[in-house]
Amino acid sequence: MSEIKKSWYKEMAVYQIWPRSFCDGNGDGIGDLKGVLSKLDYIKSLGVDAIWFSPIYKSPQKDYGYDIADYRDIAPEYGTMEDFKAVLDGAHERGLRVIMDLVVNHTSDQHEWFKESLKGKDNPYHDYYFWRKGKGKNPPNNWLATFPGPAWEYNKDLDEYYLHLFAPEQPDLNMDNPAVRNEVKDIMRFWLDMGVDGFREDVITFISKKEGLPNGIPLPFATGIEHYKFGPHLLEYLTEFNDEVLSKYDCMTVGEAPMMTPDLALKFIDEREGKNQTLKMMFNFQHMEADCMFTSFIVKKFSLRKLKAAMSSWQNKLYGKGWNALYLENHDQPRVISRYGSEKYRERSGKMLATMYICQSGTPFIYQGQEIGMTNIRLPELSMYKDVATYKSYNICKKLGFSHENIMKRCMHASRDNARTPVQWTSGKNAGFTTAEEPWFYINPNYTEVNVEDSEKDPDSLLNYYRKLLKFRKENEIVIYGKYKEHYRDSEKLFVYERSYEGKRMLVICSFSDTIERFKAPKGFDLAKGRVVLANYDYANPGFDSFNLKPYEAKVFMFD
Ligand code: NOJ
Repeated sequence: MSEIKKSWYKEMAVYQIWPRSFCDGNGDGIGDLKGVLSKLDYIKSLGVDAIWFSPIYKSPQKDYGYDIADYRDIAPEYGTMEDFKAVLDGAHERGLRVIMDLVVNHTSDQHEWFKESLKGKDNPYHDYYFWRKGKGKNPPNNWLATFPGPAWEYNKDLDEYYLHLFAPEQPDLNMDNPAVRNEVKDIMRFWLDMGVDGFREDVITFISKKEGLPNGIPLPFATGIEHYKFGPHLLEYLTEFNDEVLSKYDCMTVGEAPMMTPDLALKFIDEREGKNQTLKMMFNFQHMEADCMFTSFIVKKFSLRKLKAAMSSWQNKLYGKGWNALYLENHDQPRVISRYGSEKYRERSGKMLATMYICQSGTPFIYQGQEIGMTNIRLPELSMYKDVATYKSYNICKKLGFSHENIMKRCMHASRDNARTPVQWTSGKNAGFTTAEEPWFYINPNYTEVNVEDSEKDPDSLLNYYRKLLKFRKENEIVIYGKYKEHYRDSEKLFVYERSYEGKRMLVICSFSDTIERFKAPKGFDLAKGRVVLANYDYANPGFDSFNLKPYEAKVFMFD
């Protein structure tokens, strides 16, 4: 068996901030850096070691910051560079690292490079993007964007189209142009030299497109994806970024990698001698498809077996070779309690889900509000939504013939806006998020019950459970470095696995059922000899190898 290498980025836990909805420090209704500064002690108190900031750069906010107009400036609604430096220093003083979002598959159409590129073919910035002639009256190829809709936008003055894999306001950068890669390296150096500790790299696996941009196999959306999901020069470009910049700093990277499989991931994140570790880890999507297909708009019944198969395959295939990034929520995913857990058993299922993923091997990421068990808001009217991808998905569903009522149900379940409502700090006005009359976006009406202030007071709250869990992980190397083995793979109700490390074993038992389930210890475990170290009901050791699990119960046994 391969020796597992130890490293700080493996031992840490990361808290993700989506700045617009985190905390408003200046009373204008929009979350900002002053708000973040005021909450650094809270973040530290969770037991995390780093903050990942979703984009805080200057941006027209068509895709809430994932459309960057200036990579070296802060969005004025979030504050100034001085404010950012105060947050960076404040975080570092508390022993929290800071990870920035690096969005270089595309820019905003308001970026100077794009504005220059519009000036014509002779402009050096023209080749920063994919400008192409159409085919007769049609676009250059049949690609569709991953935000449903065409992937090409026509410009009359130039009589050319430009490629955008996301919204039309997010033109794709031409990474085959060495000048663009030099820009990316300079941006990385700019932030690393300022003292940031790494990057979450947005759809980084899409940056290389197949030469000639050939037609793709027709699909209802994302036609052409086979030509860029891990394109021909991806490894080469990631290696260049790593060799020339990242490897010179003690930093961490996590690449967002849609459609990634563990076998393929190892081509980019293999830490063994003589292999390619161009990124430290990747965010894969396979485990987020246990209740949907490809996009959360194509809803399916939740399948625990699908969830387990996805997670276990990453656990097994990466062990001793690469490192996992563990997550259940982020700004693109509806709230997990509303998906994989139960709103009826909100805190219980929240604790179970937290146990289930944080006790696996990998670096856990926790999204703002997840720690208090925020749930989907389910906005009933289309006009209430803000997210560009929701509107695009609505349109495509309409084209496919679904009724308005049917699509609204999908939006309520699947829209990214479910995860983007303001963090619920208190049970007071505007959930303590802002002192303005109106926050920028709807607050989930359950804030009177679900909020940080009340969770702080309750020793049994989900919030305090997260603290306990993260402390437990930090104090027990087995949770970080142990080998993973799944039991009862076929169960549709129970997720059971063990971890083993240096002679110790740990058994993690999680019920995904809303009724009582009988549990029997897997062969080789004598539960009476174990200690219950984590539980979301009671810590009593049942003393028998067979016992009943309550709805959404989680119990972790340690065998020293
Ligand atoms: C992934 C980001 O997480 C998402 O929010 C964004 O819309 C797309 N990439 C495009 O940047």
